[in-house]
Amino acid sequence: SVNADVVASTGSMIVVSNRLPFVLQRNKEGNLVRKSSAGGLVTAVAPVVINGNGLWVGWPGIHLDDPNEPIPESDPSDITPTAGLKSEKVVAVQIDPVIFDAYYNGCCNATFWPLFHSMPDRATFKGEYWRAYVRANKEIADCTITALKSLPKDMPDVPLVWIHDYHLMLAGNSIRQAAEELDIPCKLGFFLHIPFPPWDIFRLFPWSDEVLQGMLACDMVGFHIADYCLNFVDCCQRNLGCRVDRKNLLVEHGGRTVRVRPLPIGIPFERFVELAEKAPRVLSTTQKIILGVDRLDYTKGLVHRLMAFEKLLENHPEHLEKVSMLQISVPSRTDVKEYQELKEEMDQLVGRINGKFTTPNWSPIRYIYGCVSQNELAAFYRDAAVGLVTPLRDGMNLVAKEFVACQINIPPGVLIVSPFAGAGETMHEALISNPYEIEDASEVIHRALTMPEDERILRMNYLRRREKLNDVNYWTKSFLSAMGSLVTQEDHDDVG
Ligand code: G6P
Repeated sequence: SVNADVVASTGSMIVVSNRLPFVLQRNKEGNLVRKSSAGGLVTAVAPVVINGNGLWVGWPGIHLDDPNEPIPESDPSDITPTAGLKSEKVVAVQIDPVIFDAYYNGCCNATFWPLFHSMPDRATFKGEYWRAYVRANKEIADCTITALKSLPKDMPDVPLVWIHDYHLMLAGNSIRQAAEELDIPCKLGFFLHIPFPPWDIFRLFPWSDEVLQGMLACDMVGFHIADYCLNFVDCCQRNLGCRVDRKNLLVEHGGRTVRVRPLPIGIPFERFVELAEKAPRVLSTTQKIILGVDRLDYTKGLVHRLMAFEKLLENHPEHLEKVSMLQISVPSRTDVKEYQELKEEMDQLVGRINGKFTTPNWSPIRYIYGCVSQNELAAFYRDAAVGLVTPLRDGMNLVAKEFVACQINIPPGVLIVSPFAGAGETMHEALISNPYEIEDASEVIHRALTMPEDERILRMNYLRRREKLNDVNYWTKSFLSAMGSLVTQEDHDDVG
């Protein structure tokens, strides 16, 4: 029933993202097959594209020798929300592999990712990366314009183009220019899924003006929280000299007024509850589990987290043999050097801590470097005593939300969240822990492990209620409504 009541834009919406909601792979026979994503964003947005007169433009995860090779339909066994996304609704953009590498591994993940997470020392600034970024954005924008031209002309409302994330901050500019030249009416919306940094960090990027101009080509720019909105407004004023209204979050640019909005993303709450209700128990009941689930990324504070756990075992030996940490680290961006180095560092640190404390019947850390199924994940979330979400910086962090959705046991466990994640701003009843302060972080874990039942129940009730209300459907609706493009199923039926 996810998003069944939402139809976009009285008809037309084009979603533009770096990745399509599925990747293409070759099977043994050499045929292309889809591998669907089950992410929350896809779950929320795919039905809007499917139900409405929509299209999805993005990279299919594979370089095709023949760009006209047809995209396969979904496998009949596919039960993910993208299963209903017919190939005719998908535009798979092909980008030259050398350009793609400098765009994705270079500019996106070796420059913007660290910079926007306020870690400029990890960022590489290269003209070659930037030129590839400009070109990839142009190619994706060109495909979007072709898609716009293909939409039926007799729709009652102006089509909406919804651009996603830091990979595509320039695309809006080319789309607006072409749409104006060709006289194709459209509304442009952008959402950034990562933090937007303060001006003194953002200005380090040599082409920062162009980035702002790209985003300001849109009618509305959305961020997770008010701080990121204010950072963006500040950059527009200080870099470009735009007139801004901080109270109403407005930026004047090129004779237009761009709206800036905080729109915190949620998760498909009920889906996680259902998974948690059905998943069999996999963790043993004899030890308390402290759970961490992250892409293996240096922004997630994994090294700090392990050191805090080590401190806990040193300072509170009563937890020895009674508590274990389960850390799931999902491989990510493995072609980027920083990610390869972090993998090495984590392997060594886990080995050192386990070597120090392991007894014949117990190891302090269970470390999984790989993916786990949604069912297994829901069981871990449900049966863990403590959920540790302690990034150094994070746009929102959906693990914190998935954890509380799955905490259906009474009494529940405890969520610990970093104040430097968007989730830390809104999940007030979690224990807040500064990951940089290792000694204090270990004390917060101790507090979570020893928290009385009634306090755990109270905190978790509030946390779950909020995430249930502000789920990912609510986020999609908020975005469409801020774009003036929200049409519910009822309205749609009325329209006929
Ligand atoms: C973050 C970004 C997403 C991205 C995801 C996974 O959440 O905001 O846009 O898709 O990380 O990273 P990847 O590089 O594998 O797409």
